[in-house]
Amino acid sequence: MRPIYRIAFCIGMAIIVMLLQPTATWAAVNPAELAKAVQEIEQLDMLRSGLASTLEGQTAEPTMKTMKEVCRPVGMKAMELSKENGWQVKQIATKYRNPAHAPDTLHSRIALAQFEQKPELMGFWEKATIDGQAGDRYYRRINVEASCLACHGQQNRRPQFVKEGYPQDLAYDFNVGDLRGMYAVFIPEVQQSIQAALQP
Ligand code: HEC
Repeated sequence: MRPIYRIAFCIGMAIIVMLLQPTATWAAVNPAELAKAVQEIEQLDMLRSGLASTLEGQTAEPTMKTMKEVCRPVGMKAMELSKENGWQVKQIATKYRNPAHAPDTLHSRIALAQFEQKPELMGFWEKATIDGQAGDRYYRRINVEASCLACHGQQNRRPQFVKEGYPQDLAYDFNVGDLRGMYAVFIPEVQQSIQAALQP
């Protein structure tokens, strides 16, 4: 190839790459869906805080019944959100109570470490690949409030149902303001393209 053609070829390729780039970025990130995930997680977090606050001031030890009214509904709602939206909504914690909530990827461990190091960091997005599927993952911190200590406070003061039901429990000895864990929402790219296509 003569040099002039070679240069023309290179410029042509560069233009093609530049033209394709914005489309690729747009397909990967649908801001409306990301915003929806943020909103749903805020509601999920308010659900737990609201339920936990009903325990405050109660002298009776939480039972299986009251437990069902605090963190279990949060897990169930997370599953519902996953099904409804085609997302993967999880709670993740280094010190977990339910082993299903252990850190699942290297990136989730890094995210937890970031929340630990930066108390003012509320949440962030990053590109992620889960089960071979590319997408975006949103992480949102979960802090310990006074009302959480009834079940996540001192080890020997945990309710009986926790001691019995979670023999490998690690989610105790927290103090108010500690990082309890995080929510993680994975939105696969395919899902986002479909949603984007459906939007007027
Ligand atoms: C009545 C007892 C109780 C109270 C109060 C409570 N939790 Fe929990 N929490 C549990 C139990 C039991 C689980 C495990 C649920 C499961 O099996 O999915 C759990 C699980 C969690 C998880 C999921 C990660 C893990 O460790 O498995 C998070 C996050 C969490 N709690 C945060 C909180 C926060 C924040 C508060 C206060 C706003 C709170 N909890 C109050 C009992 C409680």
